Amino acid sequence: MEEDQAGWIRRVTVVGAGLMGHGIAQNFAVAGFEVALTDQSSAVLQAALSRIEGNLRLMAQVGRLSEERIPVIMARVNLEPNLGRAAEGSDFVCESISENLGAKQELFSRLDSVCPPRTILATNSSSFSLSQVGARIARRDKLIATHFLSPPHIIPLVEIMPGEETSGEVVQTTVALMRRCGQAPVILKKEAPGYVFNRLLAALLREAMTLVGDGIAEVEDVDLAVKAGLGLRMPFMGLLELADLAGLEVVEVMLRNVCPLINNEPTPPAILSEMVKRGELGGKSGKGFYDWRRRPVSDFIRWRDENVHRLRLALWEGRQNGQS
Ligand SMILES: NC(=O)c1ccc[n+]([C@@H]2O[C@H](COP(=O)([O-])OP(=O)(O)OC[C@H]3O[C@@H](n4cnc5c(N)ncnc54)[C@H](O)[C@@H]3O)[C@@H](O)[C@H]2O)c1
Repeated sequence: MEEDQAGWIRRVTVVGAGLMGHGIAQNFAVAGFEVALTDQSSAVLQAALSRIEGNLRLMAQVGRLSEERIPVIMARVNLEPNLGRAAEGSDFVCESISENLGAKQELFSRLDSVCPPRTILATNSSSFSLSQVGARIARRDKLIATHFLSPPHIIPLVEIMPGEETSGEVVQTTVALMRRCGQAPVILKKEAPGYVFNRLLAALLREAMTLVGDGIAEVEDVDLAVKAGLGLRMPFMGLLELADLAGLEVVEVMLRNVCPLINNEPTPPAILSEMVKRGELGGKSGKGFYDWRRRPVSDFIRWRDENVHRLRLALWEGRQNGQS
C-alpha cells in the first residue's frame, strides 16, 4: 500500500522557520512526526513557536483539531539552532530558507554531508530548478521538490517535482508522506519551473491586471468574477473537467475567438510594473489595486484564514485528493 512507503520516516527536519517553514513544520507535527526546526536567525526560530501555537489555536477554534491536542503537537516541535544537530538523524529534510540560490546550494551540500545516506532532501523553492539547487550534492536520486502554498497549514496543495535523477521510490515515499500530513500532492512528471500552480496563476494574474489596465473592468469587478464565477465551482471541478463538461468543440471555438484578444506578452503587464515603480506594493505599502489603509491587512488575513479553514474542514478533511 502506498501509505506504507513513508512508514519508515520517523524524524523530519525543516530548515528555515519563516513564513512557510513554520507552517510546514506544524503540518509534520500535527501528523505525529518529531520535527527539528532550524533557522539561522534565533529570533525567527523563537517566533516560530508562538506562530505555530497561534495557528493551532485558530484550527481548534474552527474545529479542525481539539484543544487538548495542542500541547502534544507543540511538544513534537524541537527548535534546534545548529543545522548539523537538527539534520543528523533525520529521515526527511524539507528546506524552506530564503530564495537565494547560493545559500540553498551551500545548505544542500552541508545537508548531503551531515545526513545519513537514507535521508530524502526536499526543497520548497518557488523558482529555482532542482538541478540548480542540488548542483553540489551526490545523492541526486534522493533530491525532490515539495512546493507548498501559503499558508501551508491551510492550503492542502503540495506540488511534488522530481529532478532528472530522482528515483521513483523517492517520489512515491514523498507522496505518501504528504498524504499522511493531510496534504493533497500533485505530481509533476518532470522538472518544470513555475510548477503547475504558478503557471496557472500567472496566466490568470496577467489577464486580471490587463483587464484593469485596459479599462475594461474595475478592480472589484474582476475579483468578483473570480470569487462569484470561477471560485464557487472550482473546489468541485477542475479546469479540464470544466472543459469536458462544456464540450471540447465549444471550448475550442471560445479559445479561437478569445485567445487573440487576451494578453500574450512575455513580460508582466504594464499596469503592474508602473505601480511597482511608484512604490505601490499592495498590503505592505498600504496601497496596491486596493487601498489597504482602510482595511487592515491583518484583519483581512484573519477573516480569510478562518473562512478557508472552515471550507477546508467541510470540503477536504477525510477526502482523498479532493475526490468526492
Ligand atoms: N512565501 C510564499 O508564499 C512561498 C510559497 C511557496 C514557496 N515559497 C518558498 O519557500 C522558501 C521560503 O520562503 P518564505 O516566504 O518562508 O521566506 P521567509 O523569508 O519568511 O523565511 C526564510 C527563512 O530562512 C532563513 N534562512 C535564510 N538562509 C538560511 C540558512 N542558510 N540556514 C538557515 N536558515 C536560513 C531566514 O532567517 C528566514 O527566517 C523560499 O524558497 C520560497 O521561494 C514561498
